[in-house]
Amino acid sequence: MVTGRLKWGILGCSRITRSALIPALQASDQTELIGIASRNLQTSRDWAAEFGIPRFYGTYSDLLSDPDIQVVYIGLPNHLHCEWTLSAAHNGKHVLCDKPLACDLAEAKQMESCCSLNNVMLMEGFMWRHHPRTQRLLELINQGKIGTLQLIRYSFALPMPQDDWRWNPAAGGGALWDVGCYGVNTARLLCNAEPLGIQACTHKESHKVDVTTVVTLQFPGNVLVQIDCGFTSPFRYRVEVIGSDATLLITRGSLAGPPPQLYFCLDEEAQRIHFEGGDQFVRMVEHFTEDIQAGCGLRPPAENGVANMQVLDRIAGAIAAWK
Ligand SMILES: NC(=O)c1ccc[n+]([C@@H]2O[C@H](COP(=O)([O-])OP(=O)(O)OC[C@H]3O[C@@H](n4cnc5c(N)ncnc54)[C@H](OP(=O)(O)O)[C@@H]3O)[C@@H](O)[C@H]2O)c1
Repeated sequence: MVTGRLKWGILGCSRITRSALIPALQASDQTELIGIASRNLQTSRDWAAEFGIPRFYGTYSDLLSDPDIQVVYIGLPNHLHCEWTLSAAHNGKHVLCDKPLACDLAEAKQMESCCSLNNVMLMEGFMWRHHPRTQRLLELINQGKIGTLQLIRYSFALPMPQDDWRWNPAAGGGALWDVGCYGVNTARLLCNAEPLGIQACTHKESHKVDVTTVVTLQFPGNVLVQIDCGFTSPFRYRVEVIGSDATLLITRGSLAGPPPQLYFCLDEEAQRIHFEGGDQFVRMVEHFTEDIQAGCGLRPPAENGVANMQVLDRIAGAIAAWK
């Protein structure tokens, strides 16, 4: 059993590291952020000074060789998730890897089995699962407040800057992998099942990755899910969970901006639902820390990341067949 505050290190001086993971790891009294690595020593030195992180490294391997670091957060472009998870596992580090877990199912399986063989835990960083709103949403569905679940409509889109690696297929880019993956993850959690049927279509426009994608999933119990995601519209995040008696509406799911909301909708009336406050990233790192300390019960387990990637792979296959 692992005890005390766990010592964390971060691979990559990325935007999500700056905006969410450093603040979360420094806010929690269960975690101690002791190191940050960049491909560029000056960058990690600057970030260490700015955020008061005691150790910095000019390569990711140097951080992974530090015997004091017990857990690493991987906030790198998607095509590097597998490589650095394997390396972290070989160095005996637990891994919180940001979404999507990998670029395909084969990579995800390799990551899961390597972590398992090296006796370390692996969790995909879907922070929204750890938000108190998600717990409230699940309670309302499970208590039958909307009747029988029938349909989920999930939209997530944002304007992607032209110089972002997400426009590069070799980096694991594309709207499905970047934001559509949340819709798949949400559907699987709310339906508590894996999809049976999958249909999908996409527009690539002049790009090499999917720019606007629409997916339909059929789940057991005749629950249908429609997901749309994209890179070329203004920010849009909206989820409707539609039951036989009422609908739950989720808005404002992003990192910044106004706080997220949850509404119970009947006919034209929408009633705001109260849920506990709390930072989803702090909760995520604390859940992972607690599960490592307990040595079991990972929320969610690595297998869940593999299952999500399996659905994404199937959607990619459906898109290829549709064209
Ligand atoms: N959970 C969430 O809410 C959320 C939100 C945004 C992003 N994400 C995920 O977090 C990960 C990082 O996304 P991000 O937008 O924060 O990334 P980003 O700002 O573009 O930063 C990626 C970092 O990776 C390192 N890197 C190594 N090789 C690279 C390469 N070939 N090209 C570009 N960068 C390279 C660089 O750090 P160094 O130069 O310091 O090594 C770079 O700063 C992605 O997997 C993304 O899906 C999650």
